[in-house]
Amino acid sequence: MQVWADFQTQHKDRFLSELVDLLCIPSVSADSKYKGDVANCANAVKEHLLKAGCDKAEVCTTAGHPIVYGEKIIDPKLPTVLVYGHYDVQPADPLNLWDSPPFEPVIKDGKIFARGACDDKGQMFMHIKALETMVKTNNQPCNIKIMIEGEEEVGSTNLGLFLENNKERLKADIVLVSDTSMISMEHPSIESGLRGLAYMEVEVTGPNRDLHSGVYGGAVANPATILCQLIASMHDENNHITIPGFYDKVLILSDTEREAINKAPFSIEDYKQELGINEVWGEKGYTTLERTGIRPTLEVNGIWGGYIGEGAKTVLPSKANAKISMRLVPNQNSDEIAELFKKHFEKIAPANVQVKVTAHHGGEAVVTPTDSIAYKAAAQAIKTTFGKDPIPTRGGGSIPIIALFEKTLGLKTVLLGFGLDNDNIHSPNEKYDVFNFYKGIETIPYFHKYFADAVK
Ligand code: BES
Ligand code: MN
Ligand code: MN
Repeated sequence: MQVWADFQTQHKDRFLSELVDLLCIPSVSADSKYKGDVANCANAVKEHLLKAGCDKAEVCTTAGHPIVYGEKIIDPKLPTVLVYGHYDVQPADPLNLWDSPPFEPVIKDGKIFARGACDDKGQMFMHIKALETMVKTNNQPCNIKIMIEGEEEVGSTNLGLFLENNKERLKADIVLVSDTSMISMEHPSIESGLRGLAYMEVEVTGPNRDLHSGVYGGAVANPATILCQLIASMHDENNHITIPGFYDKVLILSDTEREAINKAPFSIEDYKQELGINEVWGEKGYTTLERTGIRPTLEVNGIWGGYIGEGAKTVLPSKANAKISMRLVPNQNSDEIAELFKKHFEKIAPANVQVKVTAHHGGEAVVTPTDSIAYKAAAQAIKTTFGKDPIPTRGGGSIPIIALFEKTLGLKTVLLGFGLDNDNIHSPNEKYDVFNFYKGIETIPYFHKYFADAVK
């Protein structure tokens, strides 16, 4: 629509500089040191919602970090879209691997580098600027509610309760989220599923104190060695996970569904080169796209114990620890899987050590239908602004709250993401292409239009 395009061209530079300002706020939800910054970021988002034209916008406090909520209702008879995103970001460590400081955004070669540039400030901000476009041009096709949380990166622990307590306020026809990625700008795609998650922590304890590794080594079980053995034993020679019952509820896809997944453009050679690996790895019998899209996994996210300082220290550590997460697929249940893991880990632990297993956050997998009105509206919006039909893909990441939108609010979700897999989300040098940022702002209003037209 010309009025939208004109407005966006006119305000292009401001949109980008406002995003830069938002990226300067270190809203790291995992680290309590940044609590004040997270709160400041929530306020900044609220101000942006008001500036974009929301009638109401509010910072809602929770037991954790606040949720920002705003709405622009134009006609109660029109359909309503609930936009969801998050303003919190992952920790930036290790800082020394960044080419420029994570909270001092730099625009270089058409990319904006900063923690949160893509995940998810850059993407959620597109919705605020799209809203501003629609409001300021008097061309808003439906009612818009917008909820931006501050705890996505720590498992959305308080958002579930917020949904329970705000069912009326959050009433809508669909949830729209930009927090996923596309194959490429040449191959626009829409993720039609996300994996679930069960996140565990284990502690293996041997002797009651760190020991001299010469005096005791060879005679006392080393918890670090035992931990490595336990972890290694959780994959078999085919890279299947060995936890009993782990695959019991895994939804098996039909050959046709698997073929569709493998039709997405993907070059294994480019993939290896891009990652600097000689070979891919994974569960026997599945392609790389299937391994990340439709199969569950178990990964060590962190492992420590003993001496890791400068030089050498001969020590047999008393404890060794690991953080281990499992990505889940329909119809696995994260609590059940966490329990299976715990039981199994406790069972395989040898008598010479003690183990402690704790479950962190989790969430369920989701599949978003590709034959719904909402998916079709998203596909049509992409067709309009990219000139190509999007390819449906299965994403490997997780957004735990999406399953609760359905369970608590009865709402389906459309994942209209504009990130790229090489955006380095959660890694050093996170970036978002300025092109993608503008393309998202351009595409989103069309989703609202096509969705409203189809529902009305
Ligand atoms: N935006 C990501 C999830 C994502 C990334 C989905 C790329 C699809 C493609 C989200 O912010 C995220 O990082 N989620 C976490 C889970 C959360 C409970 C910490 C994840 O996937 O590890
Ligand atoms: Mn995200
Ligand atoms: Mn993330």
